[in-house]
Amino acid sequence: MRVLLPEGWAPAIGYANGIEVEAGRIIFVAGQVGWDAQQKFHSEEIPPQFDQALSNILAVLAEAGAGPEHICRITAFCCDKPAYMASRRELGPIWRKHMGTHYPAMSMIFVSDLLDNPGKIELEATAVVPRRSLPGSGNSLPTHPFIVRAAPRVTLVVARARNGVIGADNRLPWHLPEDLRHFRDLTMGHTIVMGRRTWESIGRALPGRRSIVISQADAQRFPGAECAPSLEDALALAAQPAPVAVARAIEGAGIAAAAGSPAEESSEVFVIGGAQLFQAALPLAGRAVVTEIDRDYEGDTRFDALDPCEWSIFARTEHLAASGMPYSIVDYRRIPTVASARSGPA
Ligand SMILES: NC(=O)c1ccc[n+]([C@@H]2O[C@H](COP(=O)([O-])OP(=O)(O)OC[C@H]3O[C@@H](n4cnc5c(N)ncnc54)[C@H](OP(=O)(O)O)[C@@H]3O)[C@@H](O)[C@H]2O)c1
Repeated sequence: MRVLLPEGWAPAIGYANGIEVEAGRIIFVAGQVGWDAQQKFHSEEIPPQFDQALSNILAVLAEAGAGPEHICRITAFCCDKPAYMASRRELGPIWRKHMGTHYPAMSMIFVSDLLDNPGKIELEATAVVPRRSLPGSGNSLPTHPFIVRAAPRVTLVVARARNGVIGADNRLPWHLPEDLRHFRDLTMGHTIVMGRRTWESIGRALPGRRSIVISQADAQRFPGAECAPSLEDALALAAQPAPVAVARAIEGAGIAAAAGSPAEESSEVFVIGGAQLFQAALPLAGRAVVTEIDRDYEGDTRFDALDPCEWSIFARTEHLAASGMPYSIVDYRRIPTVASARSGPA
């Protein structure tokens, strides 16, 4: 399940603008009011009715083997707007008690009355249990209650010579320890995604980070890393919590793990090369941190300068390495297009 937030939209607090789910079993839950299993109301107040209505939804879902994490949409109907507005502070803890930090696509509608008296609020839900979490589906990806993540923000991290070269013989053509430290500081505690040749060039999983290698090869070839066959699969994997061993390793390094916090709804994923992967990831990236080395190098792998019509410089720092090599670190941000810059719905 992926939370959809178009680029440039204000974050959706307490709901999602959209949810993407893989096809699976779909469960439609009828409008549930605040009565108990015997259809008795115990309160005329909105908070206890809201509490009961959410419990009823979860009870119906449980019949289908589904849980709150499978809910994609909730529509709420309420016939007392002033009372609803006055009780909003109490509704948050009730929501979290049942739903954790899972916020599906939601609509809130105020109506003149509800059928069942003294019902004040009625909730209708739709849930999808993805095929991959069906028993016996053979897919080992677990479902994670209460954890729903936004699509990762993709950032490219590149070091580039003046003539565009980024690699030679599957190595970096220069020796610039200052840039390696910058790379370490930038990516530490985050997920890094790399092409198979870049993995081979580094030769191991970098400590304190979650590594995802894109390759058709067997995952066994990448000890300490996860493997995905495409960039899309790698980003979907990055949106899932890290395997426990990886999360522990990151925490063990004394770092706040990007993968470990269920509260984090959106995280930055660093695409670290090489050229093939940069090319695929460029259209998806909103940020590029480029080390611009002020010298030409011989090489066989290139990264073209970013198009100034599409990218603007957010920050630039000039450096002189101990070796005397001048370089800059430039933080580029994608210029929002008219379509992506529009603000979210009121
Ligand atoms: N200066 C820098 O910032 C920087 C950063 C990183 C790397 N480099 C340099 O770049 C060079 C390596 O770059 P490269 O372009 O040759 O290789 P690469 O992108 O690191 O790896 C290519 C391989 O990764 C997989 N792959 C990459 N993108 C894919 C995609 N979109 N979809 C599916 N699979 C994908 C494929 O693996 P399979 O063939 O296994 O399926 C492909 O053969 C080296 O010289 C390295 O030192 C420089």
